[in-house]
Amino acid sequence: MSTSRRQFLRTTSLAAAAAVPYFSGQSHSLAAETAAKNDRVAIGLIGAGGMGNGNLRSAAKWIDVMAIADVDRGRADSSNQSLAGGKAQVYEDYRAILDRKDIDVLHVATPDHWHTKPLIEAMLAGKDVYCEKPLTLTIDEGKLIRKVQKETGRVIQVGTQQRSQFQLFVKAIAMVADGRLGKIKKITAAIGGAPSSGPLPAVKVPEGLDWDRWLGPAPAVDYRASKNKSNCHGTFRWWYEYSGGKLTDWGAHHVDIAVWALEQAGQAGEHGGPLRIGGTATHPVAFKDGMPVERDCFNTATGFLLNVAYPGDVELVIRHDTDNGVTIEGDKGKIFVNRGRLTGAPVEALEDNPLPEDAIAKVYKNLPMVGDGRGAHWATFLHCVKTRQEPISDVHSHMRALNVCHLAGISARLGRELSWDAKAEQITGDSQANAMLARAYRKGYEIQMG
Ligand SMILES: NC(=O)c1ccc[n+]([C@@H]2O[C@H](COP(=O)([O-])OP(=O)(O)OC[C@H]3O[C@@H](n4cnc5c(N)ncnc54)[C@H](O)[C@@H]3O)[C@@H](O)[C@H]2O)c1
Repeated sequence: MSTSRRQFLRTTSLAAAAAVPYFSGQSHSLAAETAAKNDRVAIGLIGAGGMGNGNLRSAAKWIDVMAIADVDRGRADSSNQSLAGGKAQVYEDYRAILDRKDIDVLHVATPDHWHTKPLIEAMLAGKDVYCEKPLTLTIDEGKLIRKVQKETGRVIQVGTQQRSQFQLFVKAIAMVADGRLGKIKKITAAIGGAPSSGPLPAVKVPEGLDWDRWLGPAPAVDYRASKNKSNCHGTFRWWYEYSGGKLTDWGAHHVDIAVWALEQAGQAGEHGGPLRIGGTATHPVAFKDGMPVERDCFNTATGFLLNVAYPGDVELVIRHDTDNGVTIEGDKGKIFVNRGRLTGAPVEALEDNPLPEDAIAKVYKNLPMVGDGRGAHWATFLHCVKTRQEPISDVHSHMRALNVCHLAGISARLGRELSWDAKAEQITGDSQANAMLARAYRKGYEIQMG
């Protein structure tokens, strides 16, 4: 066993694993097992879809899934079978998990429009959370999350697991931090396009799905579906009502790497944000005042070429039409990195002139590096839960990148360039655009702050 793994196991024994008296039904047996294996972490899952299940499988050796909440009963039950052998307690309303005193750590993997509310309520209930990206649908939700995180001191890891791909993205960032590319001039985040759907008919809500609760804070609309396309599971990400489309779905990953690089190079500007954002975007439906005029089909941008201007003539380009990955260009050289490769002359030069031994550890905040990718991302989160350190994908750095993605979305929807005051976190000289920093929550689904 490697030193880091041993160290990790030592540091992840959790108070949360202690058995508590009020487990009901089948959960008794799992509570007892967890108490016996006192180095395991008791987890509550909110949102038992593709990512919720996949994430918890990748952390399976360190955790016990004790409770699962999903608004789709069939999904909760099948997740219970696959993640907990049927021993977890299943709920429709996630707030029942927030009330459980035996669960201190949560995984939130609901659709994007359902991240901010449970995340804030979980922090206020004293829980640490691994929450999927993108954390928010709006810039103002991010302000609130950051405020509550500071006030509560909870440990929040965002699901941007590229930050735990040590030989790819983290190494690329370490090269930037070590000056191997020189002064950064341009970064391109190529994130791919998005599909269109054509009109989807309003159909009967599937058995077991609480559609009103799935919609939650979003406006009440019909359930729509045809074949494998719908305004619900999986394809929610192509509707502005529930997501930012590709600009936040993949932007949350690659723009995060771009902004991380700028910050390590000391070139993200005094207030950590851009000056302007503009360019072109194509949508599958017409837009009026920033909102789609047809409401029965996918509506997020299918293609885009957006330019983000940072202070000091640094350009960040977000586009759909080139090889998925991040290109970082400096006055000493250029590298390309994605989930499969890290290339470029400065990478080849490492053979003769390697990075200092601690270069990768340093940009990884000297947190333990256990494995690689998603498992490593979970390992560092669980380590931080124990030590109360700030994880690698903290809410503050995430929102600095996600603000750029949201501004890109607002610019694309309005079809014009925006000016951004990074200090005040306001769009300047455009009240219509500035109003899009927030969204209204549907009655009955407001965030419970107390
Ligand atoms: N980090 C990554 O690389 C990555 C990859 C894929 C997805 N994701 C993110 O994970 C999240 C989920 O994506 P997915 O593809 O698994 O979606 P999905 O639609 O398959 O699953 C979401 C689940 O959440 C449930 N849900 C909705 N509202 C709920 C509520 N109020 N309480 C409890 N459950 C609720 C749904 O019923 C569904 O089962 C998204 O935010 C997405 O961006 C991240």
